[in-house]
Amino acid sequence: MTSPADDRVICVIGAGYVGLVTAAGLAETGREVRVVEVDAERRAAVAAGRSPIHEPGLDELLSAVVGSGRLRAVETMAEGVTGAGVVIVAVGTPPTPDGEADLSQVRQAVDEAMEHAAAGAIVAIKSTVPPGTTRSLSRASQRDDVGFVMYPEFLREGSALEDLHHPSRVVVGGDDTAAVQRVAALLGGPDTPRLLCDSVSAELIKYGSNAFLATKISFINEMAQLCELTGADIVKVADGMGLDPRIGRSFLSAGLGWGGSCFPKDVRALETSAGYHGQSFWLLKAAIEVNSQQRRRFAGKLLHGLGGSLEGRRVAVLGLAFKPFTDDMRQAPAVDVIRQLQDLGAEVVATDPVAMERARPLLRGTALVDDPYAAATGADAVGLVTEWPEYRALDWARVLGLMRGRLVVDGRNCLDGELISSRGGIYVSMGRRPRGLPAAPAGAAAEGIAQATVPPLPLG
Ligand code: UGA
Repeated sequence: MTSPADDRVICVIGAGYVGLVTAAGLAETGREVRVVEVDAERRAAVAAGRSPIHEPGLDELLSAVVGSGRLRAVETMAEGVTGAGVVIVAVGTPPTPDGEADLSQVRQAVDEAMEHAAAGAIVAIKSTVPPGTTRSLSRASQRDDVGFVMYPEFLREGSALEDLHHPSRVVVGGDDTAAVQRVAALLGGPDTPRLLCDSVSAELIKYGSNAFLATKISFINEMAQLCELTGADIVKVADGMGLDPRIGRSFLSAGLGWGGSCFPKDVRALETSAGYHGQSFWLLKAAIEVNSQQRRRFAGKLLHGLGGSLEGRRVAVLGLAFKPFTDDMRQAPAVDVIRQLQDLGAEVVATDPVAMERARPLLRGTALVDDPYAAATGADAVGLVTEWPEYRALDWARVLGLMRGRLVVDGRNCLDGELISSRGGIYVSMGRRPRGLPAAPAGAAAEGIAQATVPPLPLG
């Protein structure tokens, strides 16, 4: 016997990053929210108002809604789902070795939730799933009295609360129009654009958005290579292109490319999914290849800048998280870059303001220090991987004074190259001329550092 579905009661399955931010946002609107989480440690963290991932503002919001009793972490589906009007599935869809999205957690969550879902309840899939998944979950449930919708998430790590309170859009897709409208009303304000559609389109809106942004970054990174070959400046090129409102300046920052838990997984999953339908999505294959090439190019700049050998050289790496304002290390460029530098014989000392704890198990054999000045001490080169604002604000005269060498390679084009070269450093960035090197004829060496080309690889 199940209690009737009530939209004032929401169940969120999965206290991961997306699940928790969504749950906290819904509780903030006054609803009773239960988060089903099997991991006891995570449940305890939620009960203490702590987020599993460093996210500005989230701990405060969580402790407010947990404190007021509107958000509760529960262990079982029975406690979470019984009587809930909407059951939001926010479990992981990690990549399989073939690049597909692994749907086992989603399937299991839906199966178990169905045992307790009230007639009239809605299952809203927030996990990122391949086209057709929501419909097939609905069919497999054999529950005509439960609506299924796709409810994609567009939150960015590091600015999740801003996105929660001012979403760019709410997208909900499904065959049951009333269910779609009920879910569309959950979050967002009266002025938030809402796009209601079928579930397959909603699934592809999610993949398409991430894949398009990733491709945009790979495009500007290819342009950056051409800038190095022609002597242009990628920042100016991106500024000029971005002034066209049809293009826009965002996601045109050249550098080490995209990482994180979403872009790498979703671009591959979309490409694989297209393959199942008989399509070779060439643009995505190229975007993936350009992205991994950027990491090799960065290591190549350090290698060339230090005269072609890293044997016994010490490199300080600034920044480990995949982007600033998070401690997320998933698919972080720093991991590949450090491995490449170590394979080339370098001794690496790395630092990050918040990601050290998460980085440690991934970077065995790498010295991790809390202080960027300590990292730079005795280093032949400094390589900036994550654009934390505190690295821009470093006292670069002091950094250069502590270093053994004077090469600074900026993988995110975020440092003040003029300042660094005026303090005696050699500043090398991505898609711009190096600074601090003597002019021609030694200019040939400068071009060598700037280009540090890697052999082209065939598209896989
Ligand atoms: C991304 C999307 O932006 C969100 O809309 C989406 O909800 C989320 O994935 C998801 O699917 O869950 P996120 O992974 O938090 O969000 O990070 P982004 O801010 O999009 O950055 C992704 C990567 O691109 C980072 O490694 C960043 O350093 C890199 N990037 C970004 C660039 O290299 N250049 C740019 O100009 C912008």
